[in-house]
Formats: sequence, structure tokens, C-alpha cells
Amino acid sequence: MSNELRDKALKYLWMQNRDWSQMAEIGDPPVFVKGEGIRVTDTEGNTYIDVNAGYNSVNVGYGRSEIAEEIYKQMLEVNYFPEGSTTKPTIELAKKLSDLTPGDLSRVFPVSGGSEANETALKIARAYHVKNGDINRNKIISRRGSYHGTTAGVLWLGGGPPVASRDDFEPMYPNMLHAPQPNSYRCEFNSLNNSECAIKSANAIEDLIKFHGPNTIAAVIAEPIAIPQGAIVPGDEYWPMLREICDKYGVLLIADEVICGFGRTGKMFAIEHWGITPDIMTVAKGIISSYLPLAATIVSKKVADKFADENNYFKHTLTNSGHPVSAAAALKNIEILENENIIDNSAKMGKYLKEQLEVLKTDHQIIGDVRGIGLLVAFEIVSDRKTKSLFSSDLSIPDRLTEKFFKHGLIFRVSNEILNIGPPLSITRSEIDEIVHAIDLSLWELEGELGLPVND
Ligand SMILES: Cc1ncc(COP(=O)(O)O)c(C=O)c1O
Repeated sequence: MSNELRDKALKYLWMQNRDWSQMAEIGDPPVFVKGEGIRVTDTEGNTYIDVNAGYNSVNVGYGRSEIAEEIYKQMLEVNYFPEGSTTKPTIELAKKLSDLTPGDLSRVFPVSGGSEANETALKIARAYHVKNGDINRNKIISRRGSYHGTTAGVLWLGGGPPVASRDDFEPMYPNMLHAPQPNSYRCEFNSLNNSECAIKSANAIEDLIKFHGPNTIAAVIAEPIAIPQGAIVPGDEYWPMLREICDKYGVLLIADEVICGFGRTGKMFAIEHWGITPDIMTVAKGIISSYLPLAATIVSKKVADKFADENNYFKHTLTNSGHPVSAAAALKNIEILENENIIDNSAKMGKYLKEQLEVLKTDHQIIGDVRGIGLLVAFEIVSDRKTKSLFSSDLSIPDRLTEKFFKHGLIFRVSNEILNIGPPLSITRSEIDEIVHAIDLSLWELEGELGLPVND
């Protein structure tokens, strides 16, 4: 059965970020038929640990039957809704998100995925300024080394190595401006200190606003902790400075919590690490632990109120906005996160994972840096710790690591030298030990093949 399925996949399915010729050569794609906790089982009965919880998204873990039951129940009650109306779970979810999010974030526009949530946020930001009579405020500032999605508009936010190439999709959308990432391991300002890099990176955003003219800037969008450059936790100065700068120039601040939200960093939302409230927050992934598609754009009262009357309503229609079945599943998912102390577990297990990776760093010279917070942790592979230089691309380090991890029981796809780890937040200490052990073995093998000296 598995070969038959694989052949069909190779012939008919267009999988994201994979090409069917290479997959055919190496006997891919794996096809999974079961998931439980942090593990998935393929058609041949082999079980693996899913190190990155799908796409850092299966926060409560695989196989929670309570969520499946909620989905079934809602499908039987009312599976959709007539035009211009809504349903009970969608209303309850909006209220719940309003309660959970900080400050006056209180109005919820449900969508289907993180890219859509960010597209929605950009449209709200631009429309807000138009309604204020600020018709030239349409430029959006994001940071290099960020990722905000793949659809036509948000594709042009963030970017730069090692984010997926955009070469095939030029030209860039107009009015997208890019600022530095507060990444102190590779700071654009050569600052080694996290605070200094954070302050200089925040000042660079102010400089961009001043250079282009405040009355041309609609919004700054940023992930509280960005992952394309590997779980970048900015210095504590950064987010309060962004809030202050945006307030000073009348620019809206959008926090993209698509990955960080719903416990990933050890708090419900990562922005809580710095106690500020953005004007708009986008969420996805962990809101529903990927049991169904769902995301949301959550907007402050100040911004949403501009859209309150008949002449000013937000002109934005998506067939799946407010889907009741997704809403019911999300409510159950959030209940599980809250009732089982899963967010607390994320903070504790994340700390333990980081400590264990630090131990690996003492054994493996090729680990240049370990960083992150909660269960959003990363380590970086370098050929030389002092210069932080990378191995030659001819050595195909990412592909070789992916292969070795698989051999040692991990689904852990590596696309460059930055390895992000974001497992289900329900993970236990012994499961972390299993992951770290498999990484350890894989690194020893790689170092042996590369003829690198071994630490005693
Ligand atoms: C921070 C961030 N924003 C937006 C997105 C896009 O979300 P989606 O893939 O659901 O469209 C992602 C996806 O990984 C993300 O990590």
C-alpha cells in the first residue's frame, strides 16, 4: 500500500518545498498514518519523533481525541453559516481571544492561515490611516531575517538569507522597507552584546521612518522572536523601544505571533516577555495546534473603532473567515493548553532543552551558538567558532544532517546551518533526552566524516 500511495503522491501531488524528481530518487515522501503526542507513524509502521511539531504548530501534540470530538459535534450541529451571519463557537472564540490578549486588543478577524492573517493586518493598517485622512501612509517596515508568509504581499516582508529565495517572484511589491534584525550573534552593527544590538536595531527603524517621512509609514511588523535566523530573542530594550517609536510617529505596530503565540515561548504570547501591547497581533498555528486551518488578526479598540460604522466597514471577504468548525476546535485546543499547564511546561522544558544543547556545544565544535526561549530554540552550525563562517555548500551539510536525523528516528528537516527546534509543548524531559541523544549521534557521525577533531 505504501509504494502505491507514494507513487500517486509523486505523480499527482504538488508538495510544498519539495520536488518530485529528487523525492523519487530517495524513496520519499514519507507518508504518515498515525500521530500521538510527539510521535508519528508511517505506512510501514516506523515511528519517528516530529521534532518541529509539524510547522512549529502542533502545540498540544498529536492525537487529542477531545479536539476531534469537538469538530465532529460542531459539524453535526451547524457546519457553516449563511452570508452576513455567524455562529456560537466563532463568537465565543473572539471573546476568548479578546480576554487572552494584552491591553485593548479586543476585536478579532478570523482567517485560515498566518499569511492571510498578516495580509489582513496590512490592509487594516493602511485602511486605518486612510480613514484618518493620512492617505500617504502606505509603507510597511519589516526586518531582514524575518518571515511573515508566502502570499503575494507578505512574501515581500522580511526576507534576506537564509529565508527562502524570492528570485522567481520579482518584482517586489512597492513600499516594503526592510530594517535590521536584532540578532546579536550576527549583528549588522557588529555589536556582540544583545542590548546594544537591540538598541541599534530599534534606532535603525526610527531612522527609516525619519528618512522616508513619518507621514508615509503605515506600520512596523515584526515577530517577537523571529526564527529564520534561529530563534532571535532581542535584548529587553527592543520591543519597548519599538512601541515608543511607533507611538511617536503615529505608526501602527503589528506583532506577528503566528509561531510565538499560544505558549511556544513559555508565555501565552511572546510579547508578554516585554509587557507591551501592539496595535495589531496576528496568530495562527498554535491557536488550533494545526488540527484544522485557522488564524486570526486581533486588533486594538483604538484601531478597530475606525471601522465601526456603515461608511467605514472593513472591505475584506474570505469564504472561510469565521468557520465554526475551526472555531470549536480552537476553543477546545485553548482549553487543553490552559487546563494541562502546557504553557508552563513549555517554559520549563524549553529551559531544559537549551541546557542540554549547551552541553552538546561543549562536545561539538561545530555548534557555534545556542539560543531561544521556551520551546523555540535554535543552534547554529559553523566551520569556525571564532569567525562564525559556514561550511562550503559543496559539503551539503543540511541534507546530510536531515538524513542522519532520520536514521536516528527524528523527522527534523534542515534547510541551512540554522537548526530550529520547536516540538509539541506537551513534550517530557525524557523525550527531550531522546531528541538530544539523536542529535548528538548525528553530529558525531558528521564530524567523523568531515575529519574534524573530537573534543575529549
Ligand atoms: C512568523 C510567521 N508568520 C507568518 C507565517 C505564515 O503562516 P502560514 O504558513 O500559516 O501562512 C509563518 C509560517 O511559518 C510564520 O512563522
